[in-house]
Amino acid sequence: MENPDILPPAGAAPDWTIPQDWARYTPDEHAMWDRLFARQAKMLPGRAAPEYLEGLEMLRMSRPGIPNFDELSERLMQATGWQVVAVPGLVPEAVFFDHLANRRFVAGRFIRTPDQLDYLEEPDIFHDVFGHVPLLANPVFADYMQAYGQGGQRAAGLGAIDNLARLYWYTVEFGLIRSDAGLRIYGAGIVSSYGESVFALDDPSPNRLGFDLQRLMRTKYRIDDYQQNYFVIDSFDQLLRQTLDTDFGPLYDKIQALPEIEIETILPSDTVYTSGTQAYARAKEAQAI
Ligand SMILES: [Fe+2]
Repeated sequence: MENPDILPPAGAAPDWTIPQDWARYTPDEHAMWDRLFARQAKMLPGRAAPEYLEGLEMLRMSRPGIPNFDELSERLMQATGWQVVAVPGLVPEAVFFDHLANRRFVAGRFIRTPDQLDYLEEPDIFHDVFGHVPLLANPVFADYMQAYGQGGQRAAGLGAIDNLARLYWYTVEFGLIRSDAGLRIYGAGIVSSYGESVFALDDPSPNRLGFDLQRLMRTKYRIDDYQQNYFVIDSFDQLLRQTLDTDFGPLYDKIQALPEIEIETILPSDTVYTSGTQAYARAKEAQAI
């Protein structure tokens, strides 16, 4: 049931969207986008999934600077029928799922300041657009995102949002994928992060485990630092098929009867690409004491 107390802020539409107001970005804000874009675009070949890199071409807009959502949506619409819409910040889950189920990706419109170059508490336009939009130009991933939105609407009625959110986290935000040339990154949280786009592939610290829907939805995750655990899909087709072919209702019942899995745990049933040393996380813990 929708919480009637959660209303959109003043100036936002009932679906929480707001105008991007592209003309209001300052030269400094456009320059920040260009700086982040150049840094990531240079790093990603050989690291990011080819499907992501193909979609990235879409963001090389007709002019430098922050993309205009109208122009971006026009191109995306032609490719896969998706749009990008601006929202004032985090939106309620039901609103988020409804947008995804209708092939609308919600994005923040603000951009980080120079002192936030590598750390942000709330996703900005660089994370949302550079990180998420390129794969929305891929027909299979585009369908997966819509299926996730529809799955969210069902999960809300089944009290299983927390389990489903882990699927988003470990795929859309922090997913790795196999390729003939080795592992590649595709999660938006990785491809938009200078540090994590190296760490996620090259560092011996995190675990890298084969994708397993049930196992993944039982696994805790961390939101405050680089991941200790990444899940590797075989292909976007695998991800979409599993999402469409799984009857999530009985799966949630099964998962909720089982204990949660701690972040670092490796199970005998896991396909292990890397058994991580967890040295990075340990060093961070030691610093914090
Ligand atoms: Fe994100």
